[in-house]
Amino acid sequence: MNWHARYTQQANWTRELRNYLFEQTGIKTAKRALEVGCGTGAILSEIQTRSLHGLDLRPAPLMEARVHAPTASLTCGDGLSLPYPAECFDLVFCHYLLLWVSDPRKALAEMKRITRPGGYVLALAEPDYSARVDKPAELAVLGRWQTESLQRQGADPTLGGRLAALFDQAGIRLIETGTIESQGNEAPTSSEWELEWAVLENDLRESVPVDEIQRLKRLDKRAWANGKRILHVPTYFAWGQV
Ligand SMILES: C[S@@+](CC[C@H](N)C(=O)[O-])C[C@H]1O[C@@H](n2cnc3c(N)ncnc32)[C@H](O)[C@@H]1O
Repeated sequence: MNWHARYTQQANWTRELRNYLFEQTGIKTAKRALEVGCGTGAILSEIQTRSLHGLDLRPAPLMEARVHAPTASLTCGDGLSLPYPAECFDLVFCHYLLLWVSDPRKALAEMKRITRPGGYVLALAEPDYSARVDKPAELAVLGRWQTESLQRQGADPTLGGRLAALFDQAGIRLIETGTIESQGNEAPTSSEWELEWAVLENDLRESVPVDEIQRLKRLDKRAWANGKRILHVPTYFAWGQV
């Protein structure tokens, strides 16, 4: 599985929102900005600012981030106990992270701790798979399987729906929250579709028979081609000031 390609695909879905939020929070003039859970650097690679930092729990994606975001200072560490002093960043953000963290309220509280008063905390993209919409109805099972697979992997696939409440619980003054609109229902290009299925096949390979996956894959392809496919996962953002 090419995870950098997947993270780049997800970064494409949220680019418009990111540009808006980074503009609102003044990333270009920020003295120090940090992405928590930066993965392979798909987001960091698009940011130009004076002092850019990335942190991830796992060394393997960070090795890739060194290539994709060569100007960023990268650190291996845990979002639940950030290895930075208090109030040392102007802007701290995350993108598809909190669903993977065992205590997302604590992760947000840590992000707040290291942000200077008047600085910003942004959670750019957190899905809620409990509200996923799949049409035609025969494909609804895909959403259920993917939700179960995320749970087995330790994620909370419904976190997006609780994002605003978590900001509140972490003591961050919420400025704006909502769902990302740019993830429309246009048919994916064939490479996007292949990537989406590569993720699904990877997630389901131990729980669903191969024949069944291939049958649904053919059905999915046909539904997109006939304009009958609807696939929507509400994905939430929130930003606030410290
Ligand atoms: C879905 S990936 C997103 C990567 C990147 N934010 C992006 O959107 O391209 C989630 C990342 O969070 C990292 N992660 C998970 N739990 C973490 C934690 N407690 N502290 C720091 N990073 C964590 C994972 O290692 C992974 O690289």
